Amino acid sequence: MTDNEHENEQVDERVPKRVIGTPAAGTSLLGDGESAQPHEATTSETSGVTFQDEQKARKAEKIVALCFTVTFLAAIAFIISYVVFQVGSLEATGASNFALGGTLTLALLALAIGIVVWVRQIMPKYSLIQERHAMASDDDTREVVADTFVQGANESGFVKRPLLRRTMLLAAAPLGLLPIVLLRDLDNSKMPASKFNETLRHTVWGEKNKEGKPLRLVVEGTGQPIRAADFNSPGGILSVVPEGYEHDLTALAKATLILIKFRPEEIKSGTNKNWTHDGIVAYSKICTHVGCPAALYEQTTHHILCPCHQSTFDAADGAKVIFGPAARPLPQLPITVDDQGYLIAQGDFNVPVGPSYWERGDAEAEARSKGGQA
Ligand code: FES
Repeated sequence: MTDNEHENEQVDERVPKRVIGTPAAGTSLLGDGESAQPHEATTSETSGVTFQDEQKARKAEKIVALCFTVTFLAAIAFIISYVVFQVGSLEATGASNFALGGTLTLALLALAIGIVVWVRQIMPKYSLIQERHAMASDDDTREVVADTFVQGANESGFVKRPLLRRTMLLAAAPLGLLPIVLLRDLDNSKMPASKFNETLRHTVWGEKNKEGKPLRLVVEGTGQPIRAADFNSPGGILSVVPEGYEHDLTALAKATLILIKFRPEEIKSGTNKNWTHDGIVAYSKICTHVGCPAALYEQTTHHILCPCHQSTFDAADGAKVIFGPAARPLPQLPITVDDQGYLIAQGDFNVPVGPSYWERGDAEAEARSKGGQA
């Protein structure tokens, strides 16, 4: 027997034996030297076990019994409530919920209190010590591992064949550097602020057509330009894209709009009226939450709903968020009409479209660019 084993045996004697499962009749739960009978009527400590004062334990027993009785009564009341309180109207449903919730809460609370009092004031307390052992393997095992390693190295030819060894190290060196190269891409401080602005802030609405004129708004799907005079029924809504970019999915990912016609008096202060034309307002269709198309429109409330996570925007009030996870309004595009009465963009959006983290990137870029100029 080794020294370690002797030590363990001594430790085991100091710690009370634990019995796993249901003990046989007459077996002491406290180990060989301990009595299973109630201890003397005072708190005492033996071999790391603290026994409760018997008098206090009896008092606690009554409290626990009371708690369990309350649990029983509350559970019966719950069942009775379920039968007695019928639902059907708001008041009846409210009364039923109150009765069911109240009785269930009381039952669970009393049960929990009873269990806590039982454990803390009746059961003995143990101080258990878990011994730690040396983690290292013994000398024999280590010798076997070392021999196996050397044998493997010899058999692989790693030592005997220098050509293989050197070319393998050569191949591994750049592979080890690859993660460092990839990590470098996480540092966007190297990206010029202008590129941020170009990528995130701008859409094709800021560009001109071949004649050097502002882009017309055309109906998504048909490519039909929209004459303001023809889009004249209040409550109407159209999905709109920039003329010339009807099939450019990259451009459309940021430039698609919804066009809504209001009665002039319906438009509230949140909407920039200088960017509207005869009650027609254009908002980005890209939800500012995570970029789904927000195009469900409720005419009577003027609510635009994004179907992905239910963000709701008030179209009459600058498309401000009135519900849901989106953090900012749908950007409004400044529009007007050309000399033929067709709706055109006055220019690009003045804030980035789409999810808010684009804006965050943009704000960082602006801050960097200001820092760079200073
Ligand atoms: S993408 Fe619109 S609510 Fe989430």
